[in-house]
Amino acid sequence: MATLFDPYSLKDVALRNRIVVSPMCQYMSQEGVATDWHQVHYAALARGGAALVIVEATAVSPEGRITWADAGLWNDRQAEALVPIVESIKTWGAVPGIQLAHAGRKASANRPWEGDDHIPEGQPNSWTPLAPSAIAFGANLPRIPRELTVEEIARIQSDVVQAAERARDIGFEWLQLHFAHGYLAQNFWSTWSNKRTDQYGGSAENRGRYLLETLNDVRHVWPERLPLTARFGVVEFDGQDEQMISDSIDLLNKMKLEGLDSVDVSIGFNTPTAKIPWGPNFLADIAARVLKETGLPGTTSWFIDGPKGADDLIRSGKIDFATLARPFLANPHWPYYAAKELGMEQSAQMTLPPPYAHWLARYR
Ligand SMILES: Cc1cc2nc3c(=O)[nH]c(=O)nc-3n(C[C@H](O)[C@H](O)[C@H](O)COP(=O)(O)O)c2cc1C
Repeated sequence: MATLFDPYSLKDVALRNRIVVSPMCQYMSQEGVATDWHQVHYAALARGGAALVIVEATAVSPEGRITWADAGLWNDRQAEALVPIVESIKTWGAVPGIQLAHAGRKASANRPWEGDDHIPEGQPNSWTPLAPSAIAFGANLPRIPRELTVEEIARIQSDVVQAAERARDIGFEWLQLHFAHGYLAQNFWSTWSNKRTDQYGGSAENRGRYLLETLNDVRHVWPERLPLTARFGVVEFDGQDEQMISDSIDLLNKMKLEGLDSVDVSIGFNTPTAKIPWGPNFLADIAARVLKETGLPGTTSWFIDGPKGADDLIRSGKIDFATLARPFLANPHWPYYAAKELGMEQSAQMTLPPPYAHWLARYR
């Protein structure tokens, strides 16, 4: 029976424990280029004892950003700015991961603390969102996206591949494709946003085509020895949940055959009318089912119920590693705190570097 502090390996990557920092957009980039903010932020998370730090949703093209301040990886300047961040994460004992994303119909929004809403057409920092069909998300994101042509779909897929090559070349060791949260891939997968009548719309097979093709293209450039993973929204909480979960399991089984190594089970977030049952560990049973029925190793996040909740999920075998976001914003040394909470004093000492650990061992 594994615990939260047992090591874990996937392909050639060794994790020092089962604690993962979930990707979190910082909205602090300039023209997609990481800044000093990112350097400090990511170094602190790695120093705090997490095993894997996944760098925020990083756009594969300018129009694939959620906001004008998102991270990007469509040019070399952006790649160069990430090099010291990758190095810091490794120096402090964590594995550097990155999430590649295209925001689809949710693109061209204000930063969350500046409104979190679509910027109207013609305003500064505004551009036309792109999606499988010309259907708006609604609510705070009312802009009607432009429907992608088949040629444009191929171009975005090649943008993803080029970003993956850059990520590989600057030393990232864990790649996560963002197939969740109402962004482009989820727009293809969901009947809420995909009404196409060509090979990319209609049946589950057609709606899954963009995701499968993209995964396959990336697998050709991403080293076989490194994990290629996806964050996938398998449930919308819109009343059609059983259908979506079982279709998603079928698609994940196909992705597995194409070389997917692991999945982070998440939510569709593709309609503002969803009734999400927020609460401690609320996605854990769905995640456990998805992992069991696909045989994929994986994880989930969303309100993991503290150190005990995370440890229980690992011990019960529901997930292989625990992924947390906001707890790390509140406390970048969350693994240290978790080890102490769980009474695992030795692990607590191991999660922090000597200049901190030496003193805290004596501090009661
Ligand atoms: C500030 C912030 C930024 C986020 N950005 C991303 C992101 O870039 N990619 C992503 O897949 N999820 C993103 N999320 C969702 C988190 O990764 C995570 O799934 C969610 O916060 C639930 O985990 P938690 O309950 O531990 O916070 C973000 C969440 C927060 C709070």
